[in-house]
Amino acid sequence: MPAQPDDEHLRFPDGFLWGAATAAYQVEGGAAEDGRGPSIWDTFCRLPGRVRNGDTGDVASDHYHHWARDVEMMGELGLRSYRFSVAWPRVQPDGSGAVNERGLDFYRGLVDALLAAGIAPVLTLYHWDLPQPLEDVGGWPNRDTAYRFADYAAHVYGALGDRVMYWMTINEPWCSAFMGYGNGLHAPGFRDPQRAVVAAHHLLLAHGLAVDSLRAVHPGGRVFGIVLNPAPVRAASSSAEDVDAARRMDGVLNRLFLDPVLKGGYPEDVIADFAEGTSDFSHMRPGDEGIIASPIDMLGVNYYRRFTVAESDGPMRDGTKGAPPGWPGAERIAILSQDVPRTSMGWEIDPSGLTEVLVHLHRNYPPVPILVTENGAAYDDHPAPDGHVHDHDRIDYLRRHLAAAHGAIEAGVDLRGYFVWSLLDNFEWAEGYVPRFGLVYVDYASQRRIPKESAGWYRRVIQDNGLAAIADRGGDGWR
Ligand code: FCB
Repeated sequence: MPAQPDDEHLRFPDGFLWGAATAAYQVEGGAAEDGRGPSIWDTFCRLPGRVRNGDTGDVASDHYHHWARDVEMMGELGLRSYRFSVAWPRVQPDGSGAVNERGLDFYRGLVDALLAAGIAPVLTLYHWDLPQPLEDVGGWPNRDTAYRFADYAAHVYGALGDRVMYWMTINEPWCSAFMGYGNGLHAPGFRDPQRAVVAAHHLLLAHGLAVDSLRAVHPGGRVFGIVLNPAPVRAASSSAEDVDAARRMDGVLNRLFLDPVLKGGYPEDVIADFAEGTSDFSHMRPGDEGIIASPIDMLGVNYYRRFTVAESDGPMRDGTKGAPPGWPGAERIAILSQDVPRTSMGWEIDPSGLTEVLVHLHRNYPPVPILVTENGAAYDDHPAPDGHVHDHDRIDYLRRHLAAAHGAIEAGVDLRGYFVWSLLDNFEWAEGYVPRFGLVYVDYASQRRIPKESAGWYRRVIQDNGLAAIADRGGDGWR
């Protein structure tokens, strides 16, 4: 019987990694400080019309200056773990060559403070902020970028490998490749399907190269993984056309990334589809698939939504605001809006999709422990006259998704942790500062942090290692 969150105590496994996540460009700010070089997002934000309200990550949540207080706040929140990313342009301002020790010092300080507070750091090496000098010589479609990444990863590992246990290579290569080079909604903003497919391959290659070389340093002593964004894809009808649309969508969104990482090779049907005009995969060299399949210890899953798709005779249609129109392999697909509640991103709320995706991975791929590395919701949060942020809709979203994650554990999924996206309100890429995903509200004018009611709720969940306090949806927050 499915778990009933209101009636039962949904206990999570002992040692479950309860956490929250951020990414460098979205929270740090300090864009020109201590020798940081420019990234593709610094450049992209300055292209007219690409980012809502012309926002940039120059200051963001100013975590670069508030990190010590932010770590204290994580302690008050009871977090067991914190997922953050390292900004490549801080470590290697030119993308290659000389290392900027001041950049590494920032992360040394952060990691030491986390460890002192008993919070396990989960480090992501790449969350989309490619150094601009590497984009200038071709970016991810240039094979050399994968080798530059492995080199950068080794520098970060050299500085932090002694104290960070969890290492994630790349965050959502699908987004980097297909939104960065395919539909142009993200940096660097190209609309070129061919380039996007090549970029995807090089992002995966970068992952494999890094895992291979880092693991050699402390064999067996560290946890390595990649963060993907698999989503359930449902055909709108049982017609052969819609079922095939779902196959193609699942192919480019999910299997194109999961299969090479976990099964040792690309899915043949997806390669065959690409061969009809997008890419002949001549960029792939012998041995690449073996490198990409370098064994991982943990898979990161970011879950936000499911897709319901149908065949369409025109260019890709998307009935859902906030989802990317058009990417390679998804031409002639319509994403259909379902009549369900949405977050302020326009993303449909569907907790059952989280159970489904986790159980699907468990049943169809070789066994690998999983972390839900991101899950969360944007809402139009603002402090009420009493000074608190009463984000009951977020609490409801999180409790339903946690119940769904628990359902996956009951079904046998080896789920080791869960990270709310996000710790702080932050720069939401092309949507700028309008969407607020944080457990903690950020008043951008003063950089004051106000823990939302959801932060207090989450703290109780962590204390109880489950949803005992679930009936208590209201309350006054946690301080
Ligand atoms: C994910 C990204 C993360 C954040 C959330 C809302 O795709 O990894 O940086 O923007 O979406």
